[in-house]
Amino acid sequence: MHKDVEKILVSEEVIQHRVGVLAKKVLEKGEGNIMVVVLLKGALVFAADLFRRMPVMLDVECLNVSSYHGGLESSGEVKFLDACLPDFTGKRVIVVDDIYDTGLTMQSVCTKIAAEGAESVESCVLLAKDKKRDVDFEPDYIGFTIGDEFVIGYGLDYRGKYRNLPYIGVISQDAI
Ligand code: IMP
Ligand code: MG
Repeated sequence: MHKDVEKILVSEEVIQHRVGVLAKKVLEKGEGNIMVVVLLKGALVFAADLFRRMPVMLDVECLNVSSYHGGLESSGEVKFLDACLPDFTGKRVIVVDDIYDTGLTMQSVCTKIAAEGAESVESCVLLAKDKKRDVDFEPDYIGFTIGDEFVIGYGLDYRGKYRNLPYIGVISQDAI
């Protein structure tokens, strides 16, 4: 698995330190009625580390959305795959995703959750790609800004694999 990584972009230690900082930033804005919404499957690893660094009473919910269908490019369409959604009423919802790429996923999910009656909606991503976007939206919390390249590890996959790498890396051309 590690041999398919061309270079490590963000090490395990640097990720862990930054996750602690993000958790603090979220709590600085308030500690009440927090609901962490984890966008599966990519945000699984990041969100688990993030909310364990938030020592307050909070809810955790997961949403299945898809925009990639397993390849390297976004399909340009966000699908909500769950049969029913959690009750967001009165909650300060923190939507957590692994990476902010075209921005479509985060924008669609936050718009939907606001329409479902959340008290407020904030977005938190581990990574944001430095690129031009069509969407009129910016995440509230960003772990790291990276170049516009395809990355794997710490929850991020290529065709379903590499999520269990403890760091963020760039996949080698040989592995594609
Ligand atoms: P967006 O809707 O284009 O912002 O895409 C967000 C989703 O695309 C993320 O939740 C990821 O699952 C996936 N994605 C975007 N870029 C990458 C990448 O470099 N590696 C792995 N998955 C990615
Ligand atoms: Mg994803």
